[in-house]
Amino acid sequence: MRRSDPRSMPLLAAAIAGSFLLIITTNALHQPKTNDGANFGATCIPHERDALLAFKQGITGDPAGILDSWQQPDGGEQNCCRWRGVRCSKRNGHVQKLGLGNSNYSIYSHTALVGQISRSLLALEHMQHLDLSYNNLRGRTGHIPEFLGSLKNLVYLNLSGINFNGSVPPQLGNMTRLQYLDLSYMGATYSTDVLWLTHLSFLHYLNLDSVNLSTIVDWPHVVNMLPSLTALHLSGCSLTGMLPDSVGQLSSLVILDLSQNSYTGPLPEFIGSLTSLSRLNLSWNNFTGHLPASIRYITGLKILDVSHNNLTRLPPEIGTLSNLTGLYASHNLLDGVITEKHFRSLNSLQNIDLSSNFLKIRISSRWKPPTGLQIVDFANCKVGPLFPAWLQWVVDIRYLDISNVGIDDWIPDWFTIAFSNATYLSMWGNQLKGRVPANIETMSSLKVLYLANNTLTGQIPNLPQNLIYFDICVNSLSGPLPANIGLPKLEVLSVASNHITGHLPRSICRSGRLRTLVLANNHLEGGLPKCFGNKFMLFLDLSNNSFSGKLPPSLQNSEMLQVLQFSRNMFSGRLPEWIGKLKRLRFLGLSKNMFSGNIPINLTNLQCLQYLDLSENELYERNFSTILKGQLLFYDSIPRIIRLNMTIIDLSSNDITGEIPEEIATLDGLLSLNLSRNHFSGNIPSKIGSMQLLESVDLSSNKLSGEIPTSLSNLTFLGYLDLSYNNLTGAIPSGSQLDTLYTECPYMYSGNNGLCGPPLNKNCSSGAEPTEQGHFTRTEEGYWSGFFYIGLEYGFVASIFLVSCALLFRERWRVAYFQSFDKLFDKAYVLVVVIWARVIRKGTENGVLRIAPDS
Ligand SMILES: *[C@@H]1O[C@H](CO)[C@@H](O)[C@H](O)[C@H]1NC(C)=O
Ligand SMILES: *[C@@H]1O[C@H](CO)[C@@H](O)[C@H](O)[C@H]1NC(C)=O
Ligand SMILES: *[C@@H]1O[C@H](CO)[C@@H](O)[C@H](O)[C@H]1NC(C)=O
Ligand SMILES: *[C@@H]1O[C@H](CO)[C@@H](O)[C@H](O)[C@H]1NC(C)=O
Ligand SMILES: *[C@@H]1O[C@H](CO)[C@@H](O)[C@H](O)[C@H]1NC(C)=O
Ligand SMILES: *[C@@H]1O[C@H](CO)[C@@H](O)[C@H](O)[C@H]1NC(C)=O
Repeated sequence: MRRSDPRSMPLLAAAIAGSFLLIITTNALHQPKTNDGANFGATCIPHERDALLAFKQGITGDPAGILDSWQQPDGGEQNCCRWRGVRCSKRNGHVQKLGLGNSNYSIYSHTALVGQISRSLLALEHMQHLDLSYNNLRGRTGHIPEFLGSLKNLVYLNLSGINFNGSVPPQLGNMTRLQYLDLSYMGATYSTDVLWLTHLSFLHYLNLDSVNLSTIVDWPHVVNMLPSLTALHLSGCSLTGMLPDSVGQLSSLVILDLSQNSYTGPLPEFIGSLTSLSRLNLSWNNFTGHLPASIRYITGLKILDVSHNNLTRLPPEIGTLSNLTGLYASHNLLDGVITEKHFRSLNSLQNIDLSSNFLKIRISSRWKPPTGLQIVDFANCKVGPLFPAWLQWVVDIRYLDISNVGIDDWIPDWFTIAFSNATYLSMWGNQLKGRVPANIETMSSLKVLYLANNTLTGQIPNLPQNLIYFDICVNSLSGPLPANIGLPKLEVLSVASNHITGHLPRSICRSGRLRTLVLANNHLEGGLPKCFGNKFMLFLDLSNNSFSGKLPPSLQNSEMLQVLQFSRNMFSGRLPEWIGKLKRLRFLGLSKNMFSGNIPINLTNLQCLQYLDLSENELYERNFSTILKGQLLFYDSIPRIIRLNMTIIDLSSNDITGEIPEEIATLDGLLSLNLSRNHFSGNIPSKIGSMQLLESVDLSSNKLSGEIPTSLSNLTFLGYLDLSYNNLTGAIPSGSQLDTLYTECPYMYSGNNGLCGPPLNKNCSSGAEPTEQGHFTRTEEGYWSGFFYIGLEYGFVASIFLVSCALLFRERWRVAYFQSFDKLFDKAYVLVVVIWARVIRKGTENGVLRIAPDS
């Protein structure tokens, strides 16, 4: 997330994320004025038109038809000054500006031009302004073309977001009139010598974000030779070591962005000599110690971002910065007490983010916050035990995060009024008591409401109409779901781990955009509404309730569904054939229900399936082979079989008969196999040892016969093996792995009268042959096998279920909010990935699998 392009934010987030705002607005601020008015009226000069057409020839892809108006004289508009992106001088008719920057800010966007930048541009000698940003114009070599340096009249050059690599050509130093140069986010570019910059004496905006400058020792020295420079962006330039002393001389800079580098050591006092600064971004480095008190000399400072460092103290002097609108200091090691004194003159403050520090925030309930305050993020600091009463005086709060701040108090009665304009409220992980305010429905601006992991009681009231995201899991709520649960914009709803009763209201179907629904661990009952399911549905966890009846056929329209977890309910009937239509399913958990009949062969259509748990039902299957074979038939050649990435199969406690087919060994990503308590017969597949990632194998209580394959001792990662209560015979294979398992689980061979040899006390009549132990080391890949790794707490496979609780979504949401609502929702599957990637070996608590917080 750190490197994502800040310019791809929609306005809402932009208005909120002050530090990013910096970049956006400065672009506008620093657009140099062109010398004379350009207009469409001018007619174009023929050789310049030819040059433009030659440029067009270099463009091999233009999916959005940006250059459609660029036509040969006989083909369309003759006057190239009227072509899209072209501006000519009113005075002399020369092309003055070529503005082809891709406004979608992504080279993957469908509006990007593809191809290379033609040398023909050199014919446009009078051009002052060239913007090719965010197109896919890297050409054959992938380098920034050196010839651009010969465009001597350029005042403005923007190549940002073009996926160039290699060195930044020093020829760019020939464009001595440049005022604005943006080479940010290009790709893997670097520069080992920036002396060429010193020729650009008119430069006032320089953006080298993400150009690798790691070998450059004294960049401030060079920057100091640029007398006009006011905005300098060196974010993500791989700068290391202590901040060079010469930075203190950059006193004419108005904007300095050194974020996302690896600077270490204390922030020096000389920062205070950058007295012209309006915006200073030092975030995402490793700065330590105090923020220097000299910061008070930067009296015009508007935005200060020191977040994501190791700073330990915020000086009270910060409170003198009367022009400060944004203060971002989250994710540091800040300690001590913050009182209203820290804010005494911060009358302009709009955004404050002190989250994830050790700060105690003790603000008097009488303090009148600045009227413009809109964003307050104190999450993971210490704010409680009382609900911060001063918040009721914030006139216009939009975003408030006081999650995990130790509040042990009632939800205040002014909640709805004080936060009536809020779009984002997050208060998870406290001890909030009492009821959710009954009139919360009136909060029409609210989009995100996060109250998970508190001690709220009572019913969930009717919710505000515009809510997109609602998470109130792990509380003590009771009563039915609110009648208006079918909110039109709702995308994520989690009320898991409460005491909710009653039915899932039919109105849920009105939430046509619902993607994630988590109702696990409640007392919901009855059938699912006949209209249940929509085409956006992605993550569905209704486990551990008392839902009954058949799966509604309407669910088959949810073709995006990746996680379907209905375990521990009372669903019945046959497993519908249409399950096979849910082609994106990765997780299918139907255990502990009353499903009966055959396992539908269609299940084999689910090529993405990684977790299959049908245990403890009344399912039967004559020939397990057919299920697996079905899978295999999709793949005609051996290498492609590898794509079968099932990680967990649990078919235990059913009535499945037949043999375990040898083909099972091709599921080489499998981590856990539980076929216990069925009627499997025949031998254990001899190649079982080739499923090298296997961690858990439970074949107990079947009718398996024959010998234990020696290949089992190859399974180095095996942490659980149960072969008890079968009809196995012969010598037990040796191997230190199996021996260890036996000490932990001495019943693993029980109930097989024919087994003999160590570790059992029974001698084999003919003597067992010792077998070799395989040598495999556990790879990262093993852990993250396939798409995600599900931490197996041995023995809970059948009961694994998920709750989209606070810890899990919170960080993502925060990032999402600061970046873009849409990004996340458009790629909502990210949620699933995040959820799954973060399931860890912590066992269950509350019957809820704990999820690791985002680091
Ligand atoms: C452009 O710059 C390069 C390297 O800085 C230099 O060698 C070359 O002479 C310059 N070309 C012109 C036309 O000024
Ligand atoms: C603070 O902002 C005000 C209004 O924008 C401006 O007039 C004043 O000069 C600024 N103060 C400093 C020290 O830059
Ligand atoms: C089970 O199915 C497989 C493949 O469909 C078939 O080859 C095999 O003969 C079947 N076995 C039995 C016992 O029906
Ligand atoms: C156990 O297996 C043997 C053959 O290995 C067979 O003769 C016997 O009937 C089986 N016993 C049971 C209870 O299935
Ligand atoms: C197994 O055989 C060894 C010698 O081969 C003998 O010492 C031991 O007593 C026997 N154990 C049992 C349980 O029969
Ligand atoms: C396999 O499933 C059975 C019953 O469904 C369960 O008791 C057992 O613990 C499971 N085995 C593993 C290793 O989880």
